[in-house]
Amino acid sequence: MAAERGEFSSRLGFILAAAGSAVGLGNIWKFPFEVGNGGGAAFVVMYLLFCFLLCFPVMTAEIAIGRKTRRNAVGAFYSLNSPAWSFIGKLGILSGFLILSFYNVVAGWAFGYVVEMLAGNFDIGNHFGDFVADWIKVGSYGLVFMATTAYIVSHGIQKGIERAAKLLMPSLIIIMVVLLAYSLTLDGAMDGLKFYLVPDFSKINGPVVYSALGQAFFSLSLGMGALITYGSYLNRDQNIVQSAALITLMDVGIAFLAGLMLFPFVFSQGVEPTGGAGLIFVTLPGVFENLGPVVGVVVGTLFFTLLSFAALTSTVSLLEVPVAYVVDEHKVPRTRAVWLTAILIFVVGIPSLLSNGATSIFTNFMQIIGIAQEGATDHSFMTFVGWVANDTFLPLGGMLISIFAAYIWKKENLSEELAQGNENYIGSYTEKYINFAISYLAPVVLSIIFVLTVLNRFFNIQLIG
Ligand code: PHE
Repeated sequence: MAAERGEFSSRLGFILAAAGSAVGLGNIWKFPFEVGNGGGAAFVVMYLLFCFLLCFPVMTAEIAIGRKTRRNAVGAFYSLNSPAWSFIGKLGILSGFLILSFYNVVAGWAFGYVVEMLAGNFDIGNHFGDFVADWIKVGSYGLVFMATTAYIVSHGIQKGIERAAKLLMPSLIIIMVVLLAYSLTLDGAMDGLKFYLVPDFSKINGPVVYSALGQAFFSLSLGMGALITYGSYLNRDQNIVQSAALITLMDVGIAFLAGLMLFPFVFSQGVEPTGGAGLIFVTLPGVFENLGPVVGVVVGTLFFTLLSFAALTSTVSLLEVPVAYVVDEHKVPRTRAVWLTAILIFVVGIPSLLSNGATSIFTNFMQIIGIAQEGATDHSFMTFVGWVANDTFLPLGGMLISIFAAYIWKKENLSEELAQGNENYIGSYTEKYINFAISYLAPVVLSIIFVLTVLNRFFNIQLIG
């Protein structure tokens, strides 16, 4: 059995695949607009604190659970003699399903924009509403994206996931550096940097804190078993703590660079940075147009290629979570498991696909049951799925994984696993901090924020404001 399971061929392969999972639309599309909505640098500070102090320890626990058991997000809990806790893995698989269902829709937009930019169609930004409402067109882009994802995952760990990450991640970093260097030469770049880097702490309120936390979990692919799954393909001699630190740094680094690149672009055209979800799709094409026909096409195409590559390594990891479960636990051959799951998730994503202007049935329904507020145009079905899966399930999953690792599996076992490939771990300050974080910090902070988020998002009750 164990021999049949895939394994990453090297530490680099694992780190690139896991960082590829982490770096995605969350970093390049969502992070900048969350910064724009959340008041700039104050949001950035909250996000960084959550990533390093809270998420990094949870990440080591997730990877350790995966590597120890060499099983998928659900099976891992059976292997640790805790079948009752396998609901954490099931919740994770549900989250992965929901996230991929709408994530693929946005990935399809990104891919569609590569085509539009190549054709020099900068005007697309002004027709973003029509573009996303054209469900046949964006649905087809989404279908191509899902099929590409499935194709990669069907080739397994080394030949599929690892190989794709080794190609896509370096390309992504090169494109990013080129675009960043270029954006910093634009007039107005300094204003962009100021907005982005100088915090105004008076802007921190409840919603900024929830979004920063949800964003930290989402961006690091935490709380849904993606890293349990990837960890299950990791070799025993690898140092988990160091790898997790590198993955966190790469993820945060790329989100940070994305903002550093984007705000100069936006401010150079005197546009407001609070464009919400449309910041990238509405504002940027206009910015690219002003760069002139040739430079515009090159920069625009590069940018949306970057966004598509980032999304692809993430959709791959989102699909691998349910696939690993079906393959391990139900003994379904990988290829069949991959294509069936991908089709199912695509179908589950159809309401999200349609909720961006093609029909208002879903939004009306949510208004009737009292979830979406009347007149709030951004309360689409897709936004709602995001609230449930990203803002609620992921931090909940993270909290449960911490509690499980600290009190059920037990800290000593976690430490023992983390010490494999890391001789000086036991007794180090890192061990003390990780144990403190998963035993006290994560359970307490995450349960408080969980309650506040649920009250705010689903009952419109705002306790901190
Ligand atoms: N981390 C990815 C991003 O930032 C999204 C993701 C979430 C991927 C959860 C896998 C699991 O875009």
